[in-house]
Amino acid sequence: MLTNLWYVAEWSKVVKDKPVRAKLLGQNFVLFRDKSGKVHCLSDVCIHRGGSLSNGWTTERNCVACPYHGWEFDAEGKVQFIPSRGEDAPIPERARIDAYPTEERYGMIWVFLGDLPEEERYPIPDFPEYEDKKNWRAVDVEYNWNGTVDRVVENGIDIGHTAFVHPGFGYPEMADKNKIVKVDKGEYWGSSDNVLYPPQLQGNLGLMKFFRKDKAATHVTPAFYLPGHCVRLHIKVNSWMEIIIFDANTPVDENTTRSFAVQVRNFFKWPIFDGGSRKRTSKVFGEDGAIVEALSPNYLPETLESEVSVEQDKFMGAWRQIRRRHIEEKGWKIDTKAMKPFEGEKVFTIPSPARRTNPHLKWALDTVPLVAPIREAAPVPEEAPKKEVSPEVS
Ligand code: FES
Ligand SMILES: [Fe+2]
Repeated sequence: MLTNLWYVAEWSKVVKDKPVRAKLLGQNFVLFRDKSGKVHCLSDVCIHRGGSLSNGWTTERNCVACPYHGWEFDAEGKVQFIPSRGEDAPIPERARIDAYPTEERYGMIWVFLGDLPEEERYPIPDFPEYEDKKNWRAVDVEYNWNGTVDRVVENGIDIGHTAFVHPGFGYPEMADKNKIVKVDKGEYWGSSDNVLYPPQLQGNLGLMKFFRKDKAATHVTPAFYLPGHCVRLHIKVNSWMEIIIFDANTPVDENTTRSFAVQVRNFFKWPIFDGGSRKRTSKVFGEDGAIVEALSPNYLPETLESEVSVEQDKFMGAWRQIRRRHIEEKGWKIDTKAMKPFEGEKVFTIPSPARRTNPHLKWALDTVPLVAPIREAAPVPEEAPKKEVSPEVS
């Protein structure tokens, strides 16, 4: 699991006037809205006696109150009021917890879990079609995986499995026809163009089957982004029908992933067709979930030597390479093994930007240990040149 990235913590519609708990990167956080409607994210551990703020309430001071002794924490994680000391009593400097930047986009609450200053953060991936309500109709779908997020992202961008895992997407006998045409990648993202030969379409009151012939060449463009561990799958159904599935994949902990997905379509935009869109997207997640849950090892192997790869795995290789670079060069991987001996005894927290901007501050909790980088960062071009896929096999 990686720090220093934006992740989706919850759907916007879930966080109303009460604090809500969200678990990401193995840690608990509290989300709450202030009176202006702005959402905030704090560590869910009260530094008084360890109360869970998400079981508390929001207050007149625009704070979240701990349910144990009522201490109130503001949007920056600072204690503003200690009831047992009364109004105007001084607040100890260490009476603060980590607070994380938040954004609301695409109906989701994004939180930046790390201490990087704003200008160094990778952006939340673009999803302009979500905002373009005139031309696209959106439905949201959630899926929870018994699987590690790295495997989930890899599955989302894997073209080869579609012929076997998704009957609506491919035929086993067409496995050698499905091709990666092109791979592009940058510092924190990758994209690939593919041609697949799926079956005739189903659904939408039987109308869909008229719009694409069986085994017609279909362009599919999967992309991944390190921020949000997002996958964007763009399917050009035919010359005028397109579907995009945009999902942010949140590592709840090492073995559990929560996918916040939005599917948009530029056809049949009436609400009557929403149920079918949602159902078909959920079905695809379920088909993938059964496979990912049973993978061995559960984690993504850190080296390629323990697996055998072929041409169709090329794009997954780009994902692994970019992810690995952020572990080995930037040192963003949480060292969960180093925390294991302290389980139940000690609480760690993800470092927030305030720890870096105010190094003199004293904090009650230690930050999560990180796996030390093993090499200097190599310079990465702004945008890597477009590359045709070579047929080499590793
Ligand atoms: S534990 Fe939170 S106020 Fe005491
Ligand atoms: Fe899949």
